[in-house]
Amino acid sequence: MAKPRVVVARRMPREVEARVREDYDTWFPAGPPPSPLAMVGAAKEHKADAVTIATNLKLSADIIEALPKHVKIVASFGVGFDHIDVAAAKAKGLIVTNTPDVLTDCTADLAFLLILGASRRAGEYEALMRKGWREALGDRLGVKVSGKTLGIVGLGRIGRAVAQRARGFGMKVLYTDLARLPGELEQGATFVPRLQDLLRQSDIVTLHAPLTDATRKLMDKDAFAAMPAGSVFVNAARGGLVDEDALHDALKSGHLFAAGLDVFASEPEYDLRFRDLPNTFLMPHAGSATQETRNAMGFRVLDNVDAVLSGRPPIDPLWS
Ligand code: DGY
Repeated sequence: MAKPRVVVARRMPREVEARVREDYDTWFPAGPPPSPLAMVGAAKEHKADAVTIATNLKLSADIIEALPKHVKIVASFGVGFDHIDVAAAKAKGLIVTNTPDVLTDCTADLAFLLILGASRRAGEYEALMRKGWREALGDRLGVKVSGKTLGIVGLGRIGRAVAQRARGFGMKVLYTDLARLPGELEQGATFVPRLQDLLRQSDIVTLHAPLTDATRKLMDKDAFAAMPAGSVFVNAARGGLVDEDALHDALKSGHLFAAGLDVFASEPEYDLRFRDLPNTFLMPHAGSATQETRNAMGFRVLDNVDAVLSGRPPIDPLWS
């Protein structure tokens, strides 16, 4: 029997690609990652039943419209889905899936790395060591993390995993979200309904909200002004949540002590002004970038494809 046909529009870890090659008749990009339009072309040419993408392939309404009808599922490698026009996919009857849960721990670990790295000047100290050290630290001191107040914007899966880590550091945890969560999910975190109030009361603020029309540039000039002088800002969610000019000004003026950033409005061509500030601790959108988690994400992509192509419901549909 002929194998189902899959277009792999973004490369996945070796073990995952081995399984997809084994189970399916596959199309892989021969060179650089295809544009969305080239992905549509490949889906047509390969007569694909399924396409796998990642969060850096934009699935806009016109791309969804152009996808041939034989594509039953687009499975995205990643949890965020701001790159997908959900309404257009729904209207077309296309199944779209993501990979929640499997990257929660690693993304929360990385958010904590940003909290510690920014607060304790890890980037500067590491650079100093690479230059051979041999000079006193003087007053280049960090700020303490243990026992401080952490403000979490968005207490979803990843926000809650960050809160769990913060409890190990004896931190007081505040959170804001669309509504208060049940106690078993709050785990002692205090709900603060208004973002501005949370910002005012936090020593460190970390973003874990999805990027939507309502949250775009949530952190603007007024938001940074509301944060106490000497506080720390962390973003491992999406760059679009932040007005980067306002963040740059708040860092350059010294109003913020530091920022830990894993995500940027433009990637990988991020705003190099952040590189040039001493009080930033930067990562290349690496929240899920461990061997274990990237494999788990890839296998979850394939589990979703397997389910749909064998007539079962998807495991992680973006809507039901
Ligand atoms: C995700 O899974 O959404 C990560 O941020 C990778 O894009």
